[in-house]
Amino acid sequence: MSYFALFCLVLALEREKFTIFALYFRDYRAMETRFCLKDSPTFRMIALDEVDSTNSFLRHLDTSGDQRLTLATAEFQSAGRGAGTNRWESARGENLLFSLHMMPGNLPVRRMFAISEVTALALKESFDSFSLPLQGRGGLSAAAPFTPPLEEEGETTIKWPNDIYFEDSKVAGMLIENDLQGALVQRSIIGIGINVNQRRFVSDAPNPRSLADIVGHDVDRRLVLERFMERFMNYMPTLDASKLDALDALHNRYKSCLYRFGEEHEFVDEMGVFCARIIDVEQSGHLVLQDKAGSLRRYEFKEVKFRI
Ligand code: BTN
Repeated sequence: MSYFALFCLVLALEREKFTIFALYFRDYRAMETRFCLKDSPTFRMIALDEVDSTNSFLRHLDTSGDQRLTLATAEFQSAGRGAGTNRWESARGENLLFSLHMMPGNLPVRRMFAISEVTALALKESFDSFSLPLQGRGGLSAAAPFTPPLEEEGETTIKWPNDIYFEDSKVAGMLIENDLQGALVQRSIIGIGINVNQRRFVSDAPNPRSLADIVGHDVDRRLVLERFMERFMNYMPTLDASKLDALDALHNRYKSCLYRFGEEHEFVDEMGVFCARIIDVEQSGHLVLQDKAGSLRRYEFKEVKFRI
């Protein structure tokens, strides 16, 4: 018996660990040609072919003793989870489905919305680097995937709290699951779905649209992931209570990228439809609207919906 086989046998003694081991090796080989992101001292990469949900996979993965960021990608999720009780639709191999496992170290619970802000900004900036056609000037010819970033800000926006929008369509969403320990965030699992090359969506998800549909040609998923990871890793050190200035600057940057900020639009809450403007998002992540009568209305996620 080879050392490798013996090694496998030892691992097989623990059933759960063996499952993960098998998944890891079978799928890593299949995927490595597609995603060139590799393990590094700060970064661990697991590429799966199929899984129920990359968030659930990372929740059950043994990461003890490993302080690195772990990234798990999948070609297909059999039970992809969206926000709340929603499912996340994604055709096999067409989009990006991935989750990050992160131990922030020194992020207070009261500032945990910063994880959404970092992720949303990293997504927005990576999409904008692909030179999407400018909003409101539809009909521009397809952009090459790697033309330099446009000087102008704001091709994509962040729809509160953390959807990424192009015009009035959703290009990406995230599902963030935080484990708390005392006053600190102990770990965060950040699940991200990006509509990259899918053109037809069959679920009743509101207004989905892919990057390919926007630019008019297929987009290289690996490049999108690389660009996102590069920006996400740059933002990561901000998630630290000893850098309050950086956390505040991050929060202001997030607010400057918001979908429909300051404009009068219709919203729906438990009392019905009303007209209001977004005037603030608090550091806690609460949305603050001002209605036509001048009253302020403050909402948690899911307590209010945009009418689009
Ligand atoms: C939303 O509803 O907007 C959140 C969507 C999050 C989907 C991603 S896909 C990868 C990760 N795994 C999941 O099961 N969900 C997230």
